[in-house]
Amino acid sequence: MNLMHEISLSDYGQASTTPSPVAQMMASFANTFRPAIDINLGVGYVNENTIPRQFIADAVNHIVAHHHDFHAPFNYGSPDGVTELIAAIRTYLAYHHFGNLTPASLAKLDMIIGANGATSLLDAMTQILPRGIVVTTDPLYYIYTNQLQRAGFQLLSIPEDRDGIRTDILAEKIKALGKRRNEISFVYIVTVNNPSCSILTTQRRIGLLRLMNKLCTEQRRKIPLIMDTAYEQLIHDPDTPTPDSALLHDELGIVHEIGTLSKTLAPTLRVGYMLAKPSPFLDAMVQKVSDTGFSAPLLNQHVAALLLEQHASEQIESVITGYREKAVQTRKWIEQYLGNEVESIIGGRAGFYFYLTFKNTPTHPKSAFFKFLSRDTGNQSIDAENNPTVIYIPGHFCVNSDGDMAQQGQRQLRLSFGYESLDRIHTAIKRMGEALAYVQIQRQ
Ligand SMILES: Cc1ncc(COP(=O)(O)O)c(C=O)c1O
Repeated sequence: MNLMHEISLSDYGQASTTPSPVAQMMASFANTFRPAIDINLGVGYVNENTIPRQFIADAVNHIVAHHHDFHAPFNYGSPDGVTELIAAIRTYLAYHHFGNLTPASLAKLDMIIGANGATSLLDAMTQILPRGIVVTTDPLYYIYTNQLQRAGFQLLSIPEDRDGIRTDILAEKIKALGKRRNEISFVYIVTVNNPSCSILTTQRRIGLLRLMNKLCTEQRRKIPLIMDTAYEQLIHDPDTPTPDSALLHDELGIVHEIGTLSKTLAPTLRVGYMLAKPSPFLDAMVQKVSDTGFSAPLLNQHVAALLLEQHASEQIESVITGYREKAVQTRKWIEQYLGNEVESIIGGRAGFYFYLTFKNTPTHPKSAFFKFLSRDTGNQSIDAENNPTVIYIPGHFCVNSDGDMAQQGQRQLRLSFGYESLDRIHTAIKRMGEALAYVQIQRQ
């Protein structure tokens, strides 16, 4: 019999044949997850109670009943995005002072709507921008950075503190790159970072732009600064001032903000947008929307526009109040049950993550801490059926394995308080406290 080779794959295809490590971990949990017993502080789902299901249903019914008033809402659409949605997002951003953007500052910027959420815009960049070095923060948005690496990009990751990327370290690292500075493709910053929910301050944004301006001038080319603002509408700490959008300080026209309605309305709408000065890059992004799916689904775009026009204020108010309450309570429990072992806590002022660094306790998937929480110790009383499995994201997955944070990442974790109810979060954190005690005993 003739030997037949497998279907040939591109390098990206080859690299994508095995799921990313974190996807593998999540898949293995998903297969064994017992909804009423196990507790998910891992996957970054939004809280189900924040999703305005009835308003979505009303909007769909309204569009069906009045379809002649919309431009063929059940047909194909234009890749530029629905005019009403773009107008509604502009009004929403200005009305709520997100990024301190004003109608006047927004008027100078173009907005495009991604084919399938912010994720599709991030994906588009991997084809439109040349392969090379992507500068980003460490810990990093592991879902996208994993994709970037599969697509052949290299990461230059810069440690952060609670104010976001350390611009002093960035300056040193850019300098140390030497001639390889001309390989920098783009800079990707998550302004309220995932995994840590550190909030990039206005001062850091200005510092970042100053460095970028210097680099662009030296390189005689515009290097895009991509600001992913996915969680910026969820800054809920009343003592945290609204940081300026980097777009307000952008002299060269390099800042491109990517936002989403997933966290405040619903991920299912798949509405993500890019806001930037007009440029050939933005034109190429529009063509890519068309290549991916002609446009974002028109029905979703019209639903999102109606939701923003009619319910944005009450929606954002209730979402923020809900996450604020959970953040305050979750922090108390972290201090109560894990306090002695916690070296630092970032997060809790925005979004729905805390990022913890333990003093001594490893958190990676082979650690005793992880095994205790996944009921995989081999000890019958710990692994018992009626104990909950508690899922978190080990720092191991959240840091660049070749970067400065690789060691520290081994004793870090992301804890999400978005999805679960407070009583279940309480049970989970208590159980984490028991896991710490178990690790102590194992050590003796
Ligand atoms: C930093 C970041 N960017 C983008 C996204 C994805 O947004 P979307 O749902 O619009 O694709 C997420 C989702 O968790 C995120 O955490």
